[in-house]
Amino acid sequence: MGKLEGKVAVITGGSSGMALASAKRFVEEGAYVFITGRRQEALDEAVKLIGRNVTGVRGDASNLDDLDRLFDTISQEKGKIDVLYASAGWGEGVPLGEITEQHFDATFNLNARGTLFTVQKALPLFNDGGSIFMTGSVASHKGFPGYSVYAASKATLHAFARGWLNELKGRNIRVNVLHPGPIATPMQDQVLTEEAKLMFESLIPRGKMGLPEEIAAVALFLASDDSSFVNGMELNVDGGFSAI
Ligand SMILES: NC(=O)c1ccc[n+]([C@@H]2O[C@H](COP(=O)([O-])OP(=O)(O)OC[C@H]3O[C@@H](n4cnc5c(N)ncnc54)[C@H](OP(=O)(O)O)[C@@H]3O)[C@@H](O)[C@H]2O)c1
Repeated sequence: MGKLEGKVAVITGGSSGMALASAKRFVEEGAYVFITGRRQEALDEAVKLIGRNVTGVRGDASNLDDLDRLFDTISQEKGKIDVLYASAGWGEGVPLGEITEQHFDATFNLNARGTLFTVQKALPLFNDGGSIFMTGSVASHKGFPGYSVYAASKATLHAFARGWLNELKGRNIRVNVLHPGPIATPMQDQVLTEEAKLMFESLIPRGKMGLPEEIAAVALFLASDDSSFVNGMELNVDGGFSAI
């Protein structure tokens, strides 16, 4: 029997990278999964790759109307949620001195505001005893030049988690933050030069980036009852990158 047998999971930004690898793993473990993303074509490809027990719902996680549509669809199709993995996020390097209002607003709108409203709008459908976790970043624990706004937007998630788990304790809903280190995903190809990738790899003890499947294994742990006593944690999954 799978670790998520009969569970309904929602994964925002699930059409690519770590969240797609997690969606695939969750289905293999018995879950029905809803994935989201803005590009219909990428969603269709992801649904095809996962193959069964998955629905793709197009939408922008920073747009509240799109979030309403997502949870309306889930309400009609399944009527409940057991696991929410709020992973849609974005960050690009902009150094202090060049930060614009647009850069700040776009980063916080998705990573902080979008994540908050994703969780809040999911709650009416949430089963007691469920698991919520959000994708942070080890960047929020480091001082990478150019990434202060991204790091700050991801740092909000732990503050959210602490307050929310306390507010949700009567329903036994756990709230955690998964902080990936450098992971080889399509996003990395968009935001990092080859030189930057080599620099990050040189800071990882094993000398190689993480793989989406290595994040999926931890996402499964946080989603399942294996982590029943794990609550309010910031879990760094980075091969030791932030420890040294
Ligand atoms: N890769 C890393 O090294 C790394 C490290 C630490 C943290 N992270 C975080 O990990 C998460 C996933 O990153 P990844 O590297 O796996 O990226 P990825 O492969 O580029 O996947 C990102 C996914 O999110 C979706 N997405 C982006 N913006 C969205 C929005 N506004 N609304 C809904 N969906 C959206 C994308 O689809 P559409 O483009 O079609 O919307 C795609 O499915 C992000 O929160 C990122 O900040 C990444």
